[in-house]
Amino acid sequence: MRLGIDLGTTRTIVAVHDRGNFPIVSFSRPDGDLVEHYPTITADVGGKLVHGLEAEAAERDGAPSLHSWKRLLHHTRQDEPLVIGSVEVKPIELVTSFLEALRRDLFERSNVAGIMTESLECVVSVPANSHSTQRFVTLDAFKRAGFSVRAVINEPSAAGIEYAHRHKSTLSSRREHVIVYDLGGGTFDAALVHIANGHHDIELTSGVALLGGDDFDAQLCAMALEMAGRTFPTSSQARADLLRECRAAKESIHPNTKRIVLDLSALGDDAPEQPIVVPIADFYERVRPLVLETLEALEPIVTALRDEEQIGGDLAGIYMVGGATGLPVVPRVVRERFGRRVHRSPNPAAATAMGCAILAADERDRGTSLVSERFTRHFGVFREADSGDRSVFDAVFPKGTPMPESSGEPIVALRQYRAAHNIGHYRFVESAYVDEAGDPIGDMTPHAEIVVPFEGDAPQESPVGRLHGEGPRIEERYEVDAAGVIAVTITNLDARRAAKFVL
Ligand SMILES: Nc1ncnc2c1ncn2[C@@H]1O[C@H](COP(=O)(O)OP(=O)(O)OP(=O)(O)O)[C@@H](O)[C@H]1O
Ligand SMILES: [Mg+2]
Repeated sequence: MRLGIDLGTTRTIVAVHDRGNFPIVSFSRPDGDLVEHYPTITADVGGKLVHGLEAEAAERDGAPSLHSWKRLLHHTRQDEPLVIGSVEVKPIELVTSFLEALRRDLFERSNVAGIMTESLECVVSVPANSHSTQRFVTLDAFKRAGFSVRAVINEPSAAGIEYAHRHKSTLSSRREHVIVYDLGGGTFDAALVHIANGHHDIELTSGVALLGGDDFDAQLCAMALEMAGRTFPTSSQARADLLRECRAAKESIHPNTKRIVLDLSALGDDAPEQPIVVPIADFYERVRPLVLETLEALEPIVTALRDEEQIGGDLAGIYMVGGATGLPVVPRVVRERFGRRVHRSPNPAAATAMGCAILAADERDRGTSLVSERFTRHFGVFREADSGDRSVFDAVFPKGTPMPESSGEPIVALRQYRAAHNIGHYRFVESAYVDEAGDPIGDMTPHAEIVVPFEGDAPQESPVGRLHGEGPRIEERYEVDAAGVIAVTITNLDARRAAKFVL
């Protein structure tokens, strides 16, 4: 069975390939309702973690829970545990056990249970601005949970694939570019996708790592509390209930809605006697800055289009996907800026998963992979310069470096030098931007640190000493595979000793 899986911040969506179609999987809730998503929620039930539909139900019964943990993967280091109720769990273990539950529920409580096969070949998506650790954790967790992963692709590429599949006619030799605008639960991603001859190439990406539907819920909640003269409840149960109520109210807003009615019963004894009525215009005014923030993040892409006349002329459209574009003010503000070129997906929450499934079903020769991806951030290492007086950033794989094709050879970068110290200390980072001197600026993610002895064997204990040009010759060999996972092998060429690290 071939599947596409979009591990979303709030909702995980699965699409399958079934005789040329790509239906979205529905799951049955414990109460029997069918939903076309699997909640990305984990709860602690008596010291044991439960996930998805079970977690959603447990949370309603008062179990401590964690929502939107995908956001935390962007910041948390791999060895730093997350806390859910009484349970501490490492990120990789959390994602693995969530995916094990998803796999089980595909077999036990989904509408495709009857056609499931033991081997599940999937394409999975990650946010375009994910750093290598996040990609690695995702890939590794899917494998550990028993999925066979054909590819890890960027979410906007997946949406671009779905657009190309759905709107073949708007694409032509003169219109080969699509801007994907993806506003999900936790992140905003934008990408300029070039589509030609069945190939998809991400030319430029942009986004806001922490902006999504969750923030609209929080604003609605804050507004209602202000109007009621109440403060945010301290109990995490009350907070979760309140946010759930606000989210449900937000999701039921349609273009003709005039006011939002919230009863704030989650506040318990402190709940106001009358429901709170928020005029829709006030709510829209309040969240407008959030939408404007997405437009600002689109600017680098728009500027690139303007600078390159021939690209600007061939824009097939701006494709709006992600559940949070369901709030009418979102497409409205985007249309104020871009007019009729804006197309909202008929199934905005599912476009990414469908794109993954379309790619998973692709039988083309692996030599001509459907997606060629690029580094969306600069990957590099801080090394000491001027005999250790200064550190300089070396962009090993600059932003825009093409990723290897899914079946292709890894891409390699080499560095050779004479060690200046008896110990090599490498701090790897990824960065969205670098300045003119090549130093990382803005959003930067430190994601690994390794220490290698160049002389003797005890790195931590022995003090760092300078070698004054007499040090051994060192080679750093970087390899990046098609999933975007980077490994480095550091070899002491004189001592013929090598150590390999997956970053
Ligand atoms: N009809 C609707 N109106 C407004 N918002 C909606 C609607 N349906 C879903 N949403 C919002 O969409 C968000 C979830 O969108 P989606 O499923 O695309 O996100 P995700 O994939 O989980 O997150 P991300 O892409 O950030 O990882 C939630 O904030 C949800 O409240
Ligand atoms: Mg999403």
